[in-house]
Amino acid sequence: MEFSIKQSNPEKQRSGCVVVGVYEGGKLSPAAQALDKVAAHHLSDLIARGDMNGKSASTLLLHKLPGIAAERVLLVGLGKASELSNKASVEILHAAFAALNATAAKDAALYVIDEGVGKDAATSTSSGQAWVIKQAVFAAAEQAFRADGMKSKPAKAAALKSITFATLEKPSAALKNALDQAVATAHGMELAKTLGNLPGNICTPTYLAARALALGKAHKSIKTTVLEEKDMQKLGMGSFLSVTRGSEQPAKLITLEYNGANKKQKPIVLVGKGITFDSGGISLKPGAEMDEMKYDMCGAASVLGTIQAIAEMGLKLNVVGVVPTCENLPSGRATKPGDIVTSMSGQTIEILNTDAEGRLILCDALTYSAKFKPDTVIDIATLTGACVIALGHVASGLFSNEDKLAKELLAAGEQAYDRAWQLPLWDDYQPLLDSNFADMQNIGGRAGGTITAACFLSRFTKDYRWAHLDIAGTAHKSGKDKGATGRPVPLLTQYLINRAGK
Ligand code: BES
Ligand code: MN
Ligand code: ZN
Repeated sequence: MEFSIKQSNPEKQRSGCVVVGVYEGGKLSPAAQALDKVAAHHLSDLIARGDMNGKSASTLLLHKLPGIAAERVLLVGLGKASELSNKASVEILHAAFAALNATAAKDAALYVIDEGVGKDAATSTSSGQAWVIKQAVFAAAEQAFRADGMKSKPAKAAALKSITFATLEKPSAALKNALDQAVATAHGMELAKTLGNLPGNICTPTYLAARALALGKAHKSIKTTVLEEKDMQKLGMGSFLSVTRGSEQPAKLITLEYNGANKKQKPIVLVGKGITFDSGGISLKPGAEMDEMKYDMCGAASVLGTIQAIAEMGLKLNVVGVVPTCENLPSGRATKPGDIVTSMSGQTIEILNTDAEGRLILCDALTYSAKFKPDTVIDIATLTGACVIALGHVASGLFSNEDKLAKELLAAGEQAYDRAWQLPLWDDYQPLLDSNFADMQNIGGRAGGTITAACFLSRFTKDYRWAHLDIAGTAHKSGKDKGATGRPVPLLTQYLINRAGK
């Protein structure tokens, strides 16, 4: 899909469809007014007849209006101007692209960014217009995304190939820059969604490594390295290796080094959980919905998606992606409850539940990350079911050992409408990890399960500034809409854009 911004008159737009807004009660947006004037009050007439009430996210498709150059006009309801929240804006954009994709229009011009859409998102670093452009690109990409690549007869792709964000006034350079960033971010989300949706028998650790190597091939700025189990053995990664023992698939430790700035600049390290299937291991999960544990590599997928996005943007920053990846399966060789392992840090861990495996692979990857002398380390993981209970499917859980970093990530989440919510990392929770036999145990009981998981990780991140994102509730949807969301690629990418000062 191609995106562009340009200033133009709605009635003169030669395109498959012109999209304009109508407020609840029938008030026309300025672009709709311009059309109405040329089209002999066609629009105000049909509104007076009651065919379009302007309710938020409603749509009405019209054909061949008199005096209008475009083949179609799509009216989208903007609701009440006073109620145009971020949430409503995103829903309106999704409704517009869903309606566009149901037509045969190959191109469309949208007059939405001149409206107040998204105005409560205007911040010091992004205008309301930039916010709308970004959300519009994400909505267009999401509505065009197909997950049926493995069906024998995939559905035909939508006809829509080219989208113009049309403005009544000349667009600023900052707005054009926001569009380029949004497009690269959407591509990164697409990669993360595609990888997340792939089944475990295809998306193995070896497959993820191949995709990471391909990213290195496609971008000169990315260098990919893959460590094998024997290398990890030498590094003393006894915790990570304990998780892969039951699997026939070899574990991999992938690193992607993106160099966008001076070599001397300390990198930001992103560590992504890459369990390509989590059966729970010997502490086997119940059968219902176990298929969704193919999504247990969505942290890894978000790291690949984010690195691809910033490479496409050419962000002036150094970023390293670290992806520990393996399967968690039961077998005669698998790790058992009660087993004690030694992590790369030297700390010993009593594994009381083999289903708390994410922290076991992450702790060694976090220790390993110190070798890059990081400015900041952020890990991203579908870590705990308890996070889904705490925050549902709206916000990712956020923890940090530095409040300034937490605030920056929360703000990036707001800017990208990919939000997180901070939870406490207080010492008061640490004793729940005490073990009689080892330095710690890998579970802290049912109470505060998301927090004790983060506390576990905090024992391996003392030497640098660190944050942890628990994306168990946000990385994928279940039920009828089952599928990866591409989150938190928008949050991470926005954070990195902000860090690059662009
Ligand atoms: N991958 C799961 C967490 C998860 C659950 C992600 C639901 C997405 C949806 C993780 O490895 C896990 O199994 N965690 C356990 C931890 C428990 C044994 C302490 C959990 O949440 O039940
Ligand atoms: Mn698990
Ligand atoms: Zn898991």
